[in-house]
Amino acid sequence: MSPSPADIRRAVAVLRAGGLVAFPTETVYGLGADASQPAAVQRVFAVKGRPADHPVIVHLADAEALGEWAAEVPPAAALLAARCWPGPLTVIVRRAAGVPDEVTGGLETVGLRVPDQPVALALLREFAEQGAGGIAAPSANRFGRVSPTTAADVRADLGDAVDLVLDGGACRVGVESTIVDCTRAEPAILRLGGLARERIEELLGQPVPVRRVEGGAGDVRAPGTLVSHYAPDARVVMVDAASLARAADEALGRGLRVGVIGEKLPHDLPVGVAVLAEPVDDADYARHLYRHLRAADAAGLDTVLAIVPDQVGIGAAVADRLRRAAHVVEGGT
Ligand code: TXA
Ligand code: MG
Repeated sequence: MSPSPADIRRAVAVLRAGGLVAFPTETVYGLGADASQPAAVQRVFAVKGRPADHPVIVHLADAEALGEWAAEVPPAAALLAARCWPGPLTVIVRRAAGVPDEVTGGLETVGLRVPDQPVALALLREFAEQGAGGIAAPSANRFGRVSPTTAADVRADLGDAVDLVLDGGACRVGVESTIVDCTRAEPAILRLGGLARERIEELLGQPVPVRRVEGGAGDVRAPGTLVSHYAPDARVVMVDAASLARAADEALGRGLRVGVIGEKLPHDLPVGVAVLAEPVDDADYARHLYRHLRAADAAGLDTVLAIVPDQVGIGAAVADRLRRAAHVVEGGT
């Protein structure tokens, strides 16, 4: 059942008291704390098992609040916020003076977004009406694991460590927001996600490169950009449709329990392969990707063979998450 206005008020009270509230967004569930309370934000890190120097996204009720969190709003950020919020987009801007170090991981920048999900917006609006600002929220999973797309996922991963879980049903987009760094002259994508790169380029009227951030020590502290992230226990292997049956045969021959995911699965799959999912399109693939990866673990599979979608639109975000789940390092580093 969807949260009632009383549930929303209770959640706001929990946040104001320094507690943690997991809430749905259109992308994945977030683990929220009052962004103006450093101790509450620190609790988020403790519960996630995430290193304390990683920055977290601040969720806002509307685009007008952008100016309160940013030291300056570059034209690209203003345009994207006006056109894409509420929506699966995070903009990185220089932080305003009052934004706590716990939120930014000590960086001079802050990530901001307005989610497009009725429960999230009700929560953010009620929170703002009570004079509070933004809700700092990473994805509501343990560090390095697959993001939760249902309230049940959150409870399975974080259990009683969360004070309240608002259940808004399954997430519509299913992969995290697209992150656009607007702090430099040339905007760049730091993480592919729910908002298509093509749409961002169309709005900005210029190419927007994907700036790959490798995950080595001393690098930019952006865990969603670590090469090994969003990973289930099962080994994920990226394949194309033509090589799927052969790869499955080979894995079965080694005694492994094998599952497959892909649009238009071949008909000649070897006996013994578990079909985890056959998404009807890239949006469907994105929406349920993390559920399928969790299902693979629940079924005790050793290997997941995933057919990688074409890297256009949200298919690019699916390919990106598969790459990270597979621990494939680009460029050999
Ligand atoms: O869709 C989403 O973005 C979800 C929902 C809950 O909003 N949130 C999410 O948060 O994915 P998280 O913390 O799991 O991933 C946010 C990513 C991290 O890689 C973080 O390092 C990066 O955003 N990030 C946050 N602030 C940043 C900043 N100032 N500069 C660079 N990267 C930043
Ligand atoms: Mg995350």
